[in-house]
Amino acid sequence: MFQKMKGTYDIINDIGYYHAIEKAVHNISRRFNYEEIRTPHFEASELFHRSVGEETDIVSKETYDFTDRGDRDVTLRPEGTAGVVRAYIENKLYASKKSPQKYYYLGSMFRYDRPQKGRTREFRQFGGEAFGSDHPALDAETIAYAVMFLRAIKLKGVNLHINSLGGDESKAQYEKTLKAHVKPHLGELCEDCRRRYEENPLRILDCKVDADHEAIKNAPNPIESLTDDDTENFQNVLMYLDAMGIDYTIDSTLVRGLDYYTHTVYEFLASSELLGAQRSIGGGGRYDKLVEQLGGPATPATGFAFGLERIVHLLKHSDDFTLKQQGIHLYLLTMGERAKPYALRLAHKLRAGGINCETDFLEKSMKAQFKQSAHNKARFVAIIGDEEVEEAAVTLKDQREKSEETISVNHLYEILRQRLRHDKKGA
Ligand code: HAM
Repeated sequence: MFQKMKGTYDIINDIGYYHAIEKAVHNISRRFNYEEIRTPHFEASELFHRSVGEETDIVSKETYDFTDRGDRDVTLRPEGTAGVVRAYIENKLYASKKSPQKYYYLGSMFRYDRPQKGRTREFRQFGGEAFGSDHPALDAETIAYAVMFLRAIKLKGVNLHINSLGGDESKAQYEKTLKAHVKPHLGELCEDCRRRYEENPLRILDCKVDADHEAIKNAPNPIESLTDDDTENFQNVLMYLDAMGIDYTIDSTLVRGLDYYTHTVYEFLASSELLGAQRSIGGGGRYDKLVEQLGGPATPATGFAFGLERIVHLLKHSDDFTLKQQGIHLYLLTMGERAKPYALRLAHKLRAGGINCETDFLEKSMKAQFKQSAHNKARFVAIIGDEEVEEAAVTLKDQREKSEETISVNHLYEILRQRLRHDKKGA
């Protein structure tokens, strides 16, 4: 028997959580004027090397890479931003008259990481990316979009941690300061860190091997390397967040594990212990150089992504979120030869009008069909036997009110609609 690959899951019982999240994503995205974009699940490997970064854990250790039959180097996308930026450039979306240009996405990402609580090899993200403005108000609005999404799914206990890496000058200054700080301890650090020291010093900070080394724990604070302009920019982002009443914690240790960030970076951390070490349910920031770096016109941009598996895990343990019971509206219970085509025709008509129906396909007894109606959580049961066929009627049982009446098929649709509307109002 085949089994699923390590680190992957079949979503069956939890599908209702994903539907609720997806509904909120589409809804909130419209409010913030984001358009949906769907990019391929695989891209040229080079795209991720040049964006997420060669020295990052994601690219150096976690990508699913393969050579296709045309001898191309291909990677299953480990994140969504690189593909969106590639699509932005390739489709010349920068030429749009709308400004800023805002896109959101939902879909699977793939990272070959050690599976554990909150960490899988295929996981889903909801992300949003806004292009064309370096205004700090856009950073704040992007964060507000993320916060509004969390509010829509009633996820509480999430804290926004925020920091700034600054632009080129500040980043270069920070790298210098960090290198000077790490240098005396270089011999004690792992081989990867020693290489990173030369090639991409910032990545030393996400080393899992040396995470507890004093030199890394006491690493200098990026905020202290910011130029005056970059400090002002960060203060302005915070001012806009304050204006919207969005709470945050300035976290000077936050640098994020992807290379493309400039200026504002942030993460949404769950306060509960439910996710073990994987408390980050989402993260993002500004990436003002990436579009140009990948061959497009210089275009500032900012965005974030949430991990849906982590969010589902939290929602399942939350008292604030209740999943709506998924049942059918009507079970058509049939008895006798003539009832079958009659029931199927009726179901076809009712379904065309928006009623969710089920009926029997196994010639089951009446008792067994009643059981089926219960398994399907049917709100109503229509009993159809010879007599009902003769009279063009059904015997309608209201399973909630525990009542029963004979109804002409001509009136059935209207009566069901009325009662279902009434249910909705009372809900
Ligand atoms: P990231 O922090 O690498 O950022 O991932 C975002 C979220 O995806 C994480 O906070 C986490 O919830 C989820 N996630 C990551 N890896 C796994 C995993 N192995 N299993 C389960 N969930 C996971 C990005 O991907 C950036 N592209 C975000 C961004 C968009 N920055 C700017 N725009």
